[in-house]
Formats: sequence, C-alpha cells, structure tokens
Amino acid sequence: MRRSLTGIQPSGDPHIGNLKGMIEPAVALQATHEPFYFIASYHALTTLKDPDLLRAYQREAAISFLAYGLDPQKTALFLQQDVPEVTELSFILSCFVNMGVLERAHAYKSAREAGREVNLGTVSYPVLMAADILIYDSHDVPVGKDQKQHVEMARDIAIAFNHRYGDVFVVPQPVIKKDVATVPGLDGRKMSKSYGNTIPIFSPPKKLRKLIMKMKTDSTPVEGSKDPETCNVFALYKLFASPEQQADLAGRYRAGGLGYGHAKQELFEVMDEFLSEARLRYSELADDPAEVDKVLASGALRARSAACAVMARVRGAVGLAR
Ligand code: ADP
Ligand code: TRP
Repeated sequence: MRRSLTGIQPSGDPHIGNLKGMIEPAVALQATHEPFYFIASYHALTTLKDPDLLRAYQREAAISFLAYGLDPQKTALFLQQDVPEVTELSFILSCFVNMGVLERAHAYKSAREAGREVNLGTVSYPVLMAADILIYDSHDVPVGKDQKQHVEMARDIAIAFNHRYGDVFVVPQPVIKKDVATVPGLDGRKMSKSYGNTIPIFSPPKKLRKLIMKMKTDSTPVEGSKDPETCNVFALYKLFASPEQQADLAGRYRAGGLGYGHAKQELFEVMDEFLSEARLRYSELADDPAEVDKVLASGALRARSAACAVMARVRGAVGLAR
C-alpha cells in the first residue's frame, strides 16, 4: 500500500488554511494509503523558544487532526521528537545538499526577507523535512502549495542519494489539491501563522464572527456590482458553502445591492455551522489529555519501527553499519 506522510508545525493555533490545504486532504488519504502524520516540533523550535507555548501548540495540532477525522486505528499520529532517528538521517542527508540549494529554499528566504532570526535550524529546515519524508518510505505528501518546493527538495535528495547508493529511498511526490492550494487570510495574503492573519479552526462563534467582520474588502459601494472571483470573503465562502449557495451568493454579488457586511455574515453562518461539530470534539479531547497521549504513544511506536527499518538500510548503504 502507498504511504502518505505530512507534518504541521506547532507554532501557533491551527487555522483554516491548515485545515483546507492539508488536514482535510491528508485525512481523505486514509481511505487509500497507510498514513504517517506528525507534529513537526523540531521545525517549530527554529522560531518558537517558549517551552509552555510549544507544549500547548503540540497538543492543539494533535487535537486538530483528531477533531477533523483522523482515525488512530488507520493513521500513525505522532510527535516528530518521538522518532529521534530523524535527526540522524537529517545529518546524513545534509552531507549531500549544497549550500546554494538551501539558500534558495522558501523557509530560509522568507525568514531573511521578514528580518527574522536565521539560525542553523532555519537553514537546514528543508533537510530535516526531507528526512521526515524519506525515513517512512513515503510516496505521497499532502501539503499546501507553499510546501511544494520543500517536498521537491526531498525528492531531489532521494534521487541523488539513490543514484550513488542504489535504491535506498522511495522517491516521494507532493499532493496538492488545486482549489485549496493557497487559502487567503484576513488581509488577502496567504493565511499563515507568521502573518497574524489567520482564522483559527477552533475559534468560538463570537470570536469567529469578529475575525470575519475584520476581513479586508475593496471599496465598491453597496449598490455597485461586485466580482466574487476577486473577493476574499467569497474565496472563503466557496470552501464551506454548497454549490447552490455559492451560485446564489455569486449572483447577488454581480447584481449589486449586496454590502460586504452582509456577505461576511453569510460567510460566518456557513463557517460556524461547519466548524461547530469539531469544536465539540475539541473540547472533549482537550478535557481528556490521557486519551491524546495514548494516541501519540501508539503512533510513535508504529512510526519508529518503520523509521528504524529505513535507517538500517541507510547506515548499511553509506558505510556506517558495522
Ligand atoms: P503556517 O504557514 O501557518 O505556519 P504550516 O507551515 O504549519 O502553517 O503549514 C502546515 C500545512 O498547512 C502545510 O502543508 C501548509 O502548506 C498548509 N497551509 C498553511 N497555510 C496554508 C494556506 N493558507 N493555504 C493552503 N495550505 C496552507
Ligand atoms: N514544513 C512544513 C510546514 O511548515 C511542516 C513539515 C515538516 C512537513 N516536515 C514535513 C510537511 C514533512 C510535510 C512533510 O508546513
């Protein structure tokens, strides 16, 4: 069976971009794949240095997967640090990656452009990510579009390594769902924890409504005809409304007479209904930390056993095995 693998950084509250771009597509692959999904705590440590927050966000990320349909019987859900072999593989792979390639990587470039701290972890971020992918013999990696380049680097590393040592690694590929590849945030840029423009997936209704009302729109007056295809509010509406609801609201955009405040209220209603069930599941899981721990511990066991098999192959291939 093909294996699917993905990770989420516990660096903030999980948001609608994470849900639509990655969590939902990853959960859907449970039907056809053997999934390994994890919380990328080492990656988060490149930017997050508060231990209490890091612990809290790890739990939030795990609960997000579980609240949105991850079945622990089918999927190994685990914390990255519970398979420490991945850092060994990361070092080995780093000996096969040119600095020039790392300087072109998305995580490094955006940290530099934003004037954030660039530490060695930021630079080697894609190498650790390649190790995450390759250590589980992963075939398919469901991610949002922003991660495409990183997955392609993992692919290039696997191909270069196999070229030298024979077929050691499965060559992975990104799986990106077109209509949700980049979910826009409150300000119209990509929704991202690092831009502070997110709608967290577990926002209570009052907070959710307040966030939606803050969304940026253009200044077309109420009477004016509006283009739904260039409007952020409509872009989010499409992710939650039925095709009939979408056609109806698009018609009213074009006809004029619909204010953005009204469109936002309709977005709030479809979103609130969609999120309400997972909110309940969230509070159940938040009240039962032992259950979440149990899931993570059993996921780690399965993941570690898969990782150790691959590591034996790698150590043998490069000459590190006795
Ligand atoms: P963030 O950018 O908020 O820090 P992460 O880097 O932890 O989020 O992303 C976790 C997953 O969610 C990745 O697969 C990423 O591609 C996806 N993702 C994040 N933001 C979006 C978005 N706005 N649209 C689509 N997918 C997204
Ligand atoms: N870098 C990814 C992100 O920010 C998280 C991640 C770490 C990941 N390792 C991974 C995603 C391996 C897919 C596969 O979203």
